[in-house]
Amino acid sequence: MSYSAIVLAAGNGRRMRSSGPKVMCEVLGDPMIGWVLDNLRDAGIPDEDVGVVVGCGAETVKEYLASRGAYRTFMQTERKGTGHAVMQAREMLKDGDNLLVLCGDAPFADSDTITAALSEHTHRGNDVTVVTADLPDPGNYGRIVRESNGNFAGIVEAKDCTLVQLGITEINSGIYWFRAEALAKALDKLSCDNAAGEYYLTDTVGIIRGEGGKVGTLTSPDTDIVLGANSRAELLQLNIIAKMNVIGELLDEGVEFVSTDGVIIGRNVKIGRDTTILPGTILRGNTVIGEKCVIGPNTLLENCTVGNSVTLNSVQGYDSRICDRVKAGPFVQLRPGTILHDGVKIGDFVEIKNSEIGVNTAVAHLTYVGDSDVGKGVNFGCGCVTANYDGINKYRTTIGDYAFIGCNTNLIAPVEIGENATTAAGSTITSNVPPESLAIERSQTKIIENWEKNSKRIKKA
Ligand code: UD1
Ligand code: CA
Repeated sequence: MSYSAIVLAAGNGRRMRSSGPKVMCEVLGDPMIGWVLDNLRDAGIPDEDVGVVVGCGAETVKEYLASRGAYRTFMQTERKGTGHAVMQAREMLKDGDNLLVLCGDAPFADSDTITAALSEHTHRGNDVTVVTADLPDPGNYGRIVRESNGNFAGIVEAKDCTLVQLGITEINSGIYWFRAEALAKALDKLSCDNAAGEYYLTDTVGIIRGEGGKVGTLTSPDTDIVLGANSRAELLQLNIIAKMNVIGELLDEGVEFVSTDGVIIGRNVKIGRDTTILPGTILRGNTVIGEKCVIGPNTLLENCTVGNSVTLNSVQGYDSRICDRVKAGPFVQLRPGTILHDGVKIGDFVEIKNSEIGVNTAVAHLTYVGDSDVGKGVNFGCGCVTANYDGINKYRTTIGDYAFIGCNTNLIAPVEIGENATTAAGSTITSNVPPESLAIERSQTKIIENWEKNSKRIKKA
């Protein structure tokens, strides 16, 4: 027997009031559908056995899927409901298979829940197993209606509920394991005779039961697992829950937070013990941070690797590597391809792009270093610029160990500054500077005596 999954992701963001597809709305910086696909991977369902039904913003969703793995996609050109969406992926229904169906807008349906539901499903020989939860405030979720003996009777959408049914707190999570043949037969019988005029997937469960099939439910002990986001308010709620879950785990691992204000940490970020995260810090993607660092306030890192004992104060870093004991900030931008070696110091209003900066080099103020290879122990004065772009092509700048780049130096690339060389303040360097030499490229100060302009101005005032 093999296992496959259908993810429903065609819905429009109508209630989200978004022009894009709802499943691309983000929780902690990752699209909701990304969470769902991670959960499927964790549950051991291979990417190629996952079919995603796309529709609204199909191109955007497909592009995202392609960036992640070899998923199958099915197009639902008209949104006629969750049952109709599954009909578009009929090819996924293979006799003898068990098939998981879940929603692309429910990111917390974790692998433990998926596998627990599967073992319940196979153990009991069910035709369908529905994951349910008991929510004190069941909102717009479909209600699980039971007979007086407690047996499953059907799922009723909130829109179609009687007042009494609205009071039911057991809700449908939208996570189901089906025996493929049972689902295929039920889809043939599905109608759109309901308040929304849609083909409800939920009705297939009632149909299977009506045909004498075996319906089981598994009630999730953790109610957060079933939460989905249909509106911006619900999306914010998911973000708040996810944020505190991630921070809770990091606290357990010895990471320090003095406040969680403005702190957003993606679920794949790793942080070492005794590191402090200060307010306003956003850590995204595959960022890894070592031990004993102070990150923040107001620091944003995306796909960065940070060593130990690093201080980053008001730094924005993207796809960069920051080694041990680096101090950067405030107001620093590290653009993709930056490597800061051990002990580097980057001060205020400095931008580094696609450059390697050697051990203990200091770039302390108001400087742009782009497409450069800088050695160790180099000192940049205030206001230096590597002119790496001539309007058509980009060129590299190379600076040898212990060079001293005077204040306000322009380095017109391609250019090489030798080891231990110095450039005089205010120089625009257009040719290579040999090691141990001084390059001056400015005229000497000219003094004009008896210059009366100033005294005239003062008299007038
Ligand atoms: C659905 C369930 C509800 C359950 C809830 C759990 C139905 C009829 N209702 O309600 O019982 O409590 O999920 O979160 O199934 N989609 C498509 N094509 C469509 C319509 C929807 O692919 O034509 C996708 C959406 O993108 C979404 C998922 O299916 O990812 C669920 O649809 P949504 O409209 O959000 O259903 P709910 O009203 O939340
Ligand atoms: Ca939903």
